Amino acid sequence: MLRSALSIGLVSATVLLGGAALTGSASAEPGAAPAQSQHTRYPADSLRALGDRVGLRIGTAVNMDELGSNAEYTRITAEQFSSVTAENVMKWQLVEPNRGTYDWAAADRLVDFAKKNKQLVRGHTLVWHSQLPTWLSSDGYTTTLSNDELKALLKKHVQDQAKHFKGDIWQWDVVNEAFNDDGTPRETIWYKAWGGLGYIADAFRWARQADPKALLFYNDYNLEFTGPKSNAVYDFVKTLKAQRVPIDGVGFQGHLDTQYGFPDLQANLQRFADLGLKVAETEVDVRTFTEAAPNVNTPTNPLAVYAQESYWSRALKACLAIRECISFTPWGFGDTYSWIPGWFDDPQEGAALLYDADLKPKSQYYVIQQDLALAAGAPRRADGGPGRH
Ligand code: XIL
Repeated sequence: MLRSALSIGLVSATVLLGGAALTGSASAEPGAAPAQSQHTRYPADSLRALGDRVGLRIGTAVNMDELGSNAEYTRITAEQFSSVTAENVMKWQLVEPNRGTYDWAAADRLVDFAKKNKQLVRGHTLVWHSQLPTWLSSDGYTTTLSNDELKALLKKHVQDQAKHFKGDIWQWDVVNEAFNDDGTPRETIWYKAWGGLGYIADAFRWARQADPKALLFYNDYNLEFTGPKSNAVYDFVKTLKAQRVPIDGVGFQGHLDTQYGFPDLQANLQRFADLGLKVAETEVDVRTFTEAAPNVNTPTNPLAVYAQESYWSRALKACLAIRECISFTPWGFGDTYSWIPGWFDDPQEGAALLYDADLKPKSQYYVIQQDLALAAGAPRRADGGPGRH
């Protein structure tokens, strides 16, 4: 009697572990067969497991409409990635749609998921001109509120949000996209309220006070290329450091496009790291033209795919080569969920992620996977290799 009860117990334990592997959402008890559950839940050839071997977090942006409701999406999020970023649900528009009433539900759900799946969280983002609630500004550049009101509102927002997630955030994108491509400051409602870039130092100080353990990042696009924008941000963060503003890192979004040359990304990561900052690739995708047109790359064109594979590989290797580069985060997975087709549509671009519309890994995925495996060490051939010595 006792024996059969025991064996039933064992069988169900096994089934549970299997269930964890399938859904990727159940968590094994700490101490319960750790080696096996580790292996079962995170395949040894998953991006996260391979990244672990060189201390690099592999992240993804997460679409909260899919997480939890789409089983395959949920399984891949848990199995492949060791860091998650809220694609939208931590933005001001989503956390305070009505003035004075916070809604943290979706963001909290992501933080819970990350804890269950031993993932770190990139908080995105506290100060931005885009995706603001309409009561604050409809376009990020104009508002009916006074400068004094704006200053008080931004302070409260940064403090309240950083406090709400205190202890749960690995890296905060404290400020996002404060510069134009020509290197001039973006003249957002924040810039205008402060009469300059002073809002940035204030935001970093408020964030540090509210959550002293989070790494605080400035995040932007087109920092990958040496040019007016990258130079301006470089000079600016150097000044912040000199003024002892608590900034820990710079995020390179990494929205790449095969119609442009591959940027001198590694050199740019390196020069920011040399300022005593951490760096990260925070929103990587590699878009290409998806509508057939003469002389234009399409994802059914082997040359386009080849370019995308190369860009993914070089983007990852630029990070791998630099000790201070602590995470590599694609902006989601699964081309259906990518923001690219909706934003770059004239001419139509897309096919920018590592998984296709059916959530199957594309060749880009396998290239990245192999790069990570090689970074951890290729097998050494016995006897110094074949041939005469
Ligand atoms: C994008 C999201 O992916 C979309 O779902 C949303 O509609 C618009 O924002 N830079 C950023 C991200 O910092 O927050 C943006 O995310 C993509 C560009």
